Amino acid sequence: MLMFKNKVCWVTGASSGIGKELCIQLSKAGAKVILSSRNEEGLLNVLSEMQSPSEHYVLPLNLEKNEEFDEKTKKIINKYGELHFLFNNGGISQRASAFDTEEQVIRKIMEVNFFGQVLLSKAVLPFFRQQKMGHFVILSSISGKFGFFLRSTYSASKHALHGYFESLALEENHNNIKVTLVCPGKINTPISLNALKSDGKFHGEMDDNQSGGMDVTHCVNKILLAVQKQKKEDLIGGKEIWAVYIKRFLPALFWKIIRKQKAV
Ligand SMILES: NC(=O)c1ccc[n+]([C@@H]2O[C@H](COP(=O)([O-])OP(=O)(O)OC[C@H]3O[C@@H](n4cnc5c(N)ncnc54)[C@H](OP(=O)(O)O)[C@@H]3O)[C@@H](O)[C@H]2O)c1
Repeated sequence: MLMFKNKVCWVTGASSGIGKELCIQLSKAGAKVILSSRNEEGLLNVLSEMQSPSEHYVLPLNLEKNEEFDEKTKKIINKYGELHFLFNNGGISQRASAFDTEEQVIRKIMEVNFFGQVLLSKAVLPFFRQQKMGHFVILSSISGKFGFFLRSTYSASKHALHGYFESLALEENHNNIKVTLVCPGKINTPISLNALKSDGKFHGEMDDNQSGGMDVTHCVNKILLAVQKQKKEDLIGGKEIWAVYIKRFLPALFWKIIRKQKAV
């Protein structure tokens, strides 16, 4: 992980799960990490588990408050003078059918998962251009490759990220700006606890899919390897990621299999 030494890395969703582990592994690799999410206390706890805590910066951020993104970005540039990686990781999942999910919940998931990532990246992009370098790491999902039961808006928000960031990658290639879209399958994090039900309340349950999923340390290891190799897209998980290839090459079989999956 030599490429991260002394690099400035901004991680959103840093208080929990994949974001927390990204901060820990990046600090071990010698990076200077900006930790962002809404829960400042949670971020300070993560900081206490990182190497060289004084090198890093806790910067609370709500992905729904995009009017604050320019100011937050300037704070980082004023402190470090440069920014190399934006790990667009913060997000929320869904546990409700398309029929039941209320409009305010649809809008909230899109606000955090899509507009949050896109508008934060737009705040950072001018600095990446000035530097003539920068790397956006986008936490999509296997749900960004196909729809699934009880995930209509979540899946839509992740699909939308592919269209947006694939286009941005093409446009900014000549400015030496890279994009890696990461699509995890089932990873063992508290994501299902924080997922929203039809009325916006938390699902509050640790689903079997999560608890039986890939260990988060292993997942983040693979994310950082994909970034290091400058991969355009990487699928990370267990046998569930084969569904992506089955859908591409044997679509009729895909629909037969996926219809029989448990709706959790
Ligand atoms: N775990 C999986 O199986 C899996 C699979 C595919 C993709 N992913 C993706 O990986 C990313 C991380 O998920 P995770 O599994 O680590 O879930 P998690 O443990 O629930 O963490 C989600 C993070 O997002 C932050 N967040 C939520 N709403 C926010 C908001 N309005 N503003 C700022 N931050 C917000 C949370 O922080 P605060 O509450 O402190 O704000 C938290 O740090 C997500 O984008 C998710 O879609 C996860």
